[in-house]
Amino acid sequence: MIDEPVGGRAASEGNGGVLLEAEGLARHYASRGPWGAERITAAVEDVSLRILRGETLALVGESGCGKSTTARLLMGLEPPTSGTVRYRGRDLGSMSRTELLEFRRRVQLVFQDPFGSLNPRMTVGGMLGEVLSVHALAAGEERGRRITELLGLVGLGPEAAERYPHEFSGGQRQRIGIARALAVEPDVIVADEPVSALDVSIQAQVLNLLADLQERLGLSYLFIAHDLAVVRQVADRVAVMYAGRIVEASDADTLYHQPLHPYTRSLLAAVPRPRPPSEKPRATELREGADPPKRATGCAYFGRCRHPARDEECSLALPLLEERSPGRWVRCIKT
Ligand SMILES: Nc1ncnc2c1ncn2[C@@H]1O[C@H](COP(=O)(O)OP(=O)(O)OP(=O)(O)O)[C@@H](O)[C@H]1O
Ligand SMILES: [Mg+2]
Repeated sequence: MIDEPVGGRAASEGNGGVLLEAEGLARHYASRGPWGAERITAAVEDVSLRILRGETLALVGESGCGKSTTARLLMGLEPPTSGTVRYRGRDLGSMSRTELLEFRRRVQLVFQDPFGSLNPRMTVGGMLGEVLSVHALAAGEERGRRITELLGLVGLGPEAAERYPHEFSGGQRQRIGIARALAVEPDVIVADEPVSALDVSIQAQVLNLLADLQERLGLSYLFIAHDLAVVRQVADRVAVMYAGRIVEASDADTLYHQPLHPYTRSLLAAVPRPRPPSEKPRATELREGADPPKRATGCAYFGRCRHPARDEECSLALPLLEERSPGRWVRCIKT
């Protein structure tokens, strides 16, 4: 069963503001178990979402819930087991070579670890220049001017062009990663945990930069994060994933003020608060981060659910993702 796409009102009114869209995406991986038997991991199951022009959709959930796999599918970096991805209404699977090249340029990835994604033997200017020439975007004097402009956009001076990645701090390297993504004039940036590797004080600066660039350049973001605290500053809408599926999605304000799904509630409860050193973490907090127990039927969250109304009914059938009020989706039969 394919759920309705998780999209804003504008999307469902069909005003053409949808840039990137996934419908019923699934991705299964086959592996061999200890006795040689084939095991199937459903990394992503039945994920539908829409990214509108100029908005930030945050995709949040714990490690292993399928966020990066969803990102790779949306970017066409691997084929889905089932489901479709559309960019500006065109199915990736039926795009011509030219259309695919245009898609690869317009939808850019920003990684968690900027250092791992930058060539250590190339100066920043060399790297940006290479991107510009590969895409035939600027040559000669124009190239140098554009490199300075890109560095300026991310808050770096022109002298950065002469330096190598190791000469920069983590936050500066992430700025370079963003400049590289911007070099090809994208309209969607998929940012996979772009600030998770940075100090908290630096995180806010990079988040501010992303928000500023969005406003100046009209970018759309799919912003992936582990925890809800990080995305609060940037998200217009939030989709919460658990064990490969979206379990709740709505506009950010509603989600933060009135979370419905028990998993979303536990994520909000886990947002760090100052705690006296003597006080022990509560049992509910200790439970977070445990591997989702694999279930053949019923709600995937059943084993960890703290909802007072949780009962056997929850373990019988997989709950559907239902639209409870306009733009507000939840996959739980007890809320
Ligand atoms: N290429 C692969 N082959 C086999 N299994 C994979 C592959 N990629 C991902 N998986 C599995 O799919 C599930 C989802 O992985 P994914 O990387 O999408 O999670 P994630 O939400 O991005 O996690 P994290 O927050 O740790 O980055 C995990 O169980 C993972 O082990
Ligand atoms: Mg990931």
